[in-house]
Amino acid sequence: MVRVMREMADFIGADPWDLVFVPNATTGLNVAIQAAGLRPGDTMYMLNIGYGSVKKMAQAASASAAGKGAGTAAAVGEGEAPGGINVVYGEVKFPISTPQDIVDLVASSMPSDTRLAVFDSVTSNTALVLPVRQLIQLCKSRGVQVLIDGAHAVGQLHIDLRNGGCVRPLVVSHGSGSGFTSDFIWDGCRDYTPYLATSSALALWRALDPARVRRYCRGLLREAVALLTSRWGGRLLAPSLEMCGCMALVELPEGLAESDPATSTDAKYVQDLLHHVHSVECPVKCIQGRLYVRISVHIYNILDDYERLAEAVERIAASLAAGTVMEPQAGGLTVDETKAAQEAAAEDGRMQ
Ligand SMILES: Cc1ncc(COP(=O)(O)O)c(C=O)c1O
Repeated sequence: MVRVMREMADFIGADPWDLVFVPNATTGLNVAIQAAGLRPGDTMYMLNIGYGSVKKMAQAASASAAGKGAGTAAAVGEGEAPGGINVVYGEVKFPISTPQDIVDLVASSMPSDTRLAVFDSVTSNTALVLPVRQLIQLCKSRGVQVLIDGAHAVGQLHIDLRNGGCVRPLVVSHGSGSGFTSDFIWDGCRDYTPYLATSSALALWRALDPARVRRYCRGLLREAVALLTSRWGGRLLAPSLEMCGCMALVELPEGLAESDPATSTDAKYVQDLLHHVHSVECPVKCIQGRLYVRISVHIYNILDDYERLAEAVERIAASLAAGTVMEPQAGGLTVDETKAAQEAAAEDGRMQ
């Protein structure tokens, strides 16, 4: 574990003593939010385009501050617990024109009594690279603790944490009290295999050269976006590719949504058709009433993949225009699975 932690620290430009492995982003975010020590009446700030589960973490933190136990989103339902913390969302409205729009929005909408602000490096539903450095500076200048959700950052972006701050979350394990890294690696029955496998994953990245991988991905993303926007006449959600890592949202052609403005149910219908009828796996997002595909690029992708996506979408549009009935669930999801997926999509939609 020590060797793997050193390798990982080197990869992201961190001090190995400031780095711990956690099972996933959810766990890391939970411990960091709990470590922020929010008290009743404190304000936590995030953007409406932040990750859905972080909104639930805020609700749980609110319940906890209100003295209602550790709290879960289900226990407090919608909104924050009375007597808990205030959660304030900065409302990003599309289109935006530059990353500075985000910084200006935060500067004007983050309340002066904010104790914790949470931002994504790369947003999930909208695939935007946020101006994290400027946001951190802004928060620091106001004495606000800031937590960066880097779930999509490693690999997509060049990361150098050497000059960044780090949280020191508190967890109680056998290693508690023996230092930050021990806090996290002394729970004896955990399966360490995935962490140890990180060493091989990093060896592959080093062999390929991360900068070269990103050059390839960004070049292909540029070509794919050009292809899809010219075929469909839609826009890129980001103001330019400068605000994209290896993912981008491209607007779908007209006529794919049943309702106007489109809903997350429309998005799910098109996504299911792509998957079950055309064997194309690509998320479809409804952002503020418009439908987009979220394309992503890796070294195993080539331009033909996006050509295939373009054709599949055009065939769906043609058959919808012709009134041909399609059954996206045929041979696919059960009724319960479909319902669960629709609820998750609706939850995502509420965040936008
Ligand atoms: C921005 C962001 N934060 C957090 C998460 C949660 O990641 P996980 O479910 O692996 O914990 C995701 C997952 O995609 C994400 O996109």
